Amino acid sequence: MTHTIAVIPGDGIGTEVVPEGLRSVRRAAELFGIDLSFQEFDFASAAYWQQHGRMLPEDWFEVLQGFDAIYFGAVGWPDVVPDHVSLWESLLQFRRRFDQYVNLRPVRLLPGVPAPLAGRAPGDIDFLVVRENTEGEYSSIGGRIFEGTEREAVVQETVMTRTGTDRIVRFAFEQAQRRGNHLTSATKSNGISHTMPYWDERVAALGAEYPDVRVDKYHIDILTANFVLHPDWFDVVVASNLFGDILSDLGPACTGTIGVAPSGNINPTGAFPSLFEPVHGSAPDIAGRGIANPIGQIWAGAMMLDHLGHADASAAIVDAFERVLAEGTVRTPDLGGTATCSDLGQAVAEAIKAS
Ligand code: NAI
Ligand code: MG
Repeated sequence: MTHTIAVIPGDGIGTEVVPEGLRSVRRAAELFGIDLSFQEFDFASAAYWQQHGRMLPEDWFEVLQGFDAIYFGAVGWPDVVPDHVSLWESLLQFRRRFDQYVNLRPVRLLPGVPAPLAGRAPGDIDFLVVRENTEGEYSSIGGRIFEGTEREAVVQETVMTRTGTDRIVRFAFEQAQRRGNHLTSATKSNGISHTMPYWDERVAALGAEYPDVRVDKYHIDILTANFVLHPDWFDVVVASNLFGDILSDLGPACTGTIGVAPSGNINPTGAFPSLFEPVHGSAPDIAGRGIANPIGQIWAGAMMLDHLGHADASAAIVDAFERVLAEGTVRTPDLGGTATCSDLGQAVAEAIKAS
């Protein structure tokens, strides 16, 4: 069976790190006998916008929907296109129309990456943030009345559906079963009296179907503190859209440079393609110099292979960049070295071993 992958490098360092990510993905595919076919697209970029006056072709949905996955770099070049246009008219369209209701971010302290938290060593921090990506606090229900008067009032409603809540919580339980059988739920049911108790209720109800998974919950305020003070307490953390947004930035920030963090926007049903990308953006400040760290993009490639059912090939890529980082001879400037993006990309690809 061939997996079809749409490749969208986008802007800035996206075009530099994507080829390095592909190098590792191709190497792992070769070693593990996986059949992949790639097709590259130039849309979702400032250059495309300059040429066509839009970020995506009119038929983008039809063009992309048949692919098994999307491998994405970064979009954004604020000198040419305002950021709200470039992001809303490309990446956010993919997430919505392809119902990528899971945002998945691994948080792991890697060897050879300066750790911002004192006294933590690689292995101490290793967890997964599972964020609801389609509803919750980020709904468009609300508005403003009596604008500009003394009675001015604004309302924005949180919407949690049973479908939306159950599917993200289930996904998190399933991830927990693959890992350490421990799930942490982010809540705030002491202060938010309708939606958050409902969230807790659904976590408890579904927990009955996963009796092997130990479940705990924390209010979001103390949970953020515990990410910093006790990151070793966590294995899989599930959160609503807003809480997950915060935790999915805080988690990776606890483990060092933004250049190594990956992210998956996943539709677990397979009805539409899922999208894998680094957490970072197009980094105009260093773009064009060939010094971007490609690890976030490479790791996103490993997540993509895992999603496509190749856990072994995925693990082999992660193992390879961990060894290269631990060895420390090939480091990009953000890690304190002088290596180029392709030096590091090549070192990782060459380090991948068939298990
Ligand atoms: P950014 O992530 O592009 O850069 C932030 C800082 O981190 C910069 O100093 C950059 O040099 C550094 N950095 C980022 N990735 C790096 C890497 N791989 N290696 C070494 N250093 C790295 O965020 P910023 O500057 O806020 O946004 C720049 C553009 O990217 C904007 O147009 C923004 O909208 C877009 N963006 C796109 C995202 C996406 O496509 N998912 C995500 C975040 C921002
Ligand atoms: Mg965010």
